Amino acid sequence: MASKLLCFVLLSVLVAYYIYKPLPDNIEEKWKVMLMDAAFRSLAHLGTFAEMFGVKHFMDVMMLLTYAEHIEPISDNHVIVTDTTFNSVPVRLYVPKGQSNTRRRAILYIHGGGWCVGSAGMKPYDQLSKQSAHRLNAIVVSINYRLAPKFHFPIPFDDVYNVVTFFLQEKNLEKYSVDPNRIAVSGDSAGGNLAAAVAQKLLHDPEVNVKLKIQVLIYPVLQSLDLNTPSYRDNGYMPILSRTLMARFWSEYFTTDRSLFEAMMSNKHIPSQEAHLFKNVNWSSLLPENLKKNHVYSIPATDNKNTMLVKKYPGLLDVRASPLLAEDEKLTGLPMAYVVTCMYDVLRDDGFMYVSRLRKAGVQVVHEHYDNTFHGVLLMTNWPFDVSIAHRIEEKYLNWLESNL
Ligand SMILES: *[C@@H]1O[C@H](CO)[C@@H](O)[C@H](O)[C@H]1NC(C)=O
Repeated sequence: MASKLLCFVLLSVLVAYYIYKPLPDNIEEKWKVMLMDAAFRSLAHLGTFAEMFGVKHFMDVMMLLTYAEHIEPISDNHVIVTDTTFNSVPVRLYVPKGQSNTRRRAILYIHGGGWCVGSAGMKPYDQLSKQSAHRLNAIVVSINYRLAPKFHFPIPFDDVYNVVTFFLQEKNLEKYSVDPNRIAVSGDSAGGNLAAAVAQKLLHDPEVNVKLKIQVLIYPVLQSLDLNTPSYRDNGYMPILSRTLMARFWSEYFTTDRSLFEAMMSNKHIPSQEAHLFKNVNWSSLLPENLKKNHVYSIPATDNKNTMLVKKYPGLLDVRASPLLAEDEKLTGLPMAYVVTCMYDVLRDDGFMYVSRLRKAGVQVVHEHYDNTFHGVLLMTNWPFDVSIAHRIEEKYLNWLESNL
């Protein structure tokens, strides 16, 4: 009996130790966040073990969450939901039922998941799309682009671009009764990366006549050159997205070759011949003082054994993967941007740097910075892990689109 009790106590202590994680004071509903983070961490540990024993690729295990959260397309009183394809790329389409005598708005939505996991059919994404369609009387096209590591860069980008250009054709806008002056592209995390890259490419694509009105970038990933910005340094162990996981996502986007991951972890993946590119991601000049704190800027060093990486994986220097690499003149004329950043996010500084570069290029930017939350929080909208801040961020986003799209 006593030994059973001892085992129970020991086990409880171990579980509590595993779940407990010191979090910044101003994060709300800490226990929910810890539980969710522990669940997510367990999946990552399972993935690491599965990979170590050669059973499954790490990302195959991470993908289990996407399957677990999958829901079928279900129409309701307000919105018709269907799975279909645009230009042979799968999309989930949301068409509002209400009649309107004017043409509708449209949102092209790109889900997050580090280019490796996630889908339009995950419950939080599906709900957000349905809400957007209903509240804004908008057509929502949520894109199921192919994922890494099976499909490396540029395939995920190309899939998204193919859907966007297909939808923007006059005959399709007419078919869905969409007003060509009221179209937005929107995405979170890796989806924000794809949204920013799509907006840039569209601006200079002579074959597309329709212009986007708005780009929404929700805690976007915007550059792979420097994985040692102050936000990477300060938030490497925050909930959901650790620095290691982000480096893993980045490297898997380009290749499954582990040497890129190792190089990115040590931030020595960009050769010195390319050092001029760092001016576009120079956090010393692009971040507000309060975020730099006492961090000292230096150009990331190269390791000579890594100099072949950019030759092997040219995506590393490709603006379609790192929208922050675009030169200033390529940013001028981009659609108005709504950018969300979170304090406790390795990607926070990517967002801040893009905001400051877009503004310098004369692009109108609305920047919503949340100083009390972390990356991926918008996925926390369902029981038992629903947190109020996720609903507040969503509400603000929808209200803003209501008045601006
Ligand atoms: C980065 O910005 C700082 C401060 O403006 C400047 O001194 C430094 O030379 C810049 N470095 C690069 C690589 O652009």
